[in-house]
Amino acid sequence: MNFASVNGIVVPAADARVSVLDNGFAFGDSVYEVMRTYGRSPFEPGRHFRRLRASAARLGFEIPHSDAELLGQVEALVAKSEPGESYVRIVVSRGVGDCSYDFSRIERPTVVMIQKPLAAYPARHYEEGIRIAAVDVRRNHPRALDPAIKSSNLLNNILAVREAQARGCDEPLLLNQDGFLAEGASTNLFIVWEGALLTPPLSAGILAGITREVVLELAASLGTPCHQKPLHLDALLGADEAFMTSTTREIVPVHKVDDELIGDGRPGPYTCQLMDAFHAYAPSHCGQAALTAAAIPSARTSG
Ligand code: PDD
Repeated sequence: MNFASVNGIVVPAADARVSVLDNGFAFGDSVYEVMRTYGRSPFEPGRHFRRLRASAARLGFEIPHSDAELLGQVEALVAKSEPGESYVRIVVSRGVGDCSYDFSRIERPTVVMIQKPLAAYPARHYEEGIRIAAVDVRRNHPRALDPAIKSSNLLNNILAVREAQARGCDEPLLLNQDGFLAEGASTNLFIVWEGALLTPPLSAGILAGITREVVLELAASLGTPCHQKPLHLDALLGADEAFMTSTTREIVPVHKVDDELIGDGRPGPYTCQLMDAFHAYAPSHCGQAALTAAAIPSARTSG
């Protein structure tokens, strides 16, 4: 059975309830994080909670718990789960309102956590790479709904996913309003170009992915030159390698963009080296220890 918590009260997920007057439901006025476990311990909780707070701050509300409390709630949910790794979605809305823009009537944010078994991404995707679609839908403009805010208003992403699915692809790739590469619907993009790792900068209007951040750190520690710079679709199509990153998929090679092969169409050496490095990194950056390390920046680089 899967469990969920609403304001800290754990119940079977199917029985968890939020008011119809909650601004998250009525207005899409909420932020979220997707976490996963390794060895049943949540990966990089400090980085996830920091981004959650930053997203809420952009919308003008605060997460009503300390990092230690949030981690305790996530761990309590995971402890109740069946054997295996968990996916945990944390959703924090502004709270219960009255279907108006009078936010002063809202008492406190609603904190929901939903646990389910982590669905493994098919092994063939890692072995052969995925096919992505350069979709027509453009990423939201940062001055409209900034993609840096991990908001539960996912319509831009849903439109892109539907377009990719209609084309028989595994993930969409969205360009920004200026025609530069942005990101996937739930992934960040990297390319390998003449021995250097390139990825769109945050200023391209993307989410600051946690896997992206870790990959940049791992690549630097491996001595691979990394550059965050605006990229055109041509750079991707001419790249030696490409991969997408996310919490649930980690590092997944890109085999084709629509009908164009990337590199020789197989996961390349840089991608494979980073996948290995990530697999070595992830299990030792979970739970309380990772939370403490995240609070002391120097501990992260030595860890
Ligand atoms: N997606 N870009 C977007 C738009 C995302 O929604 C995500 C995360 C990422 C990758 O970020 P991270 O490495 O921190 O997971 C990039 C989560 C996994 C989701 O919505 O399921």
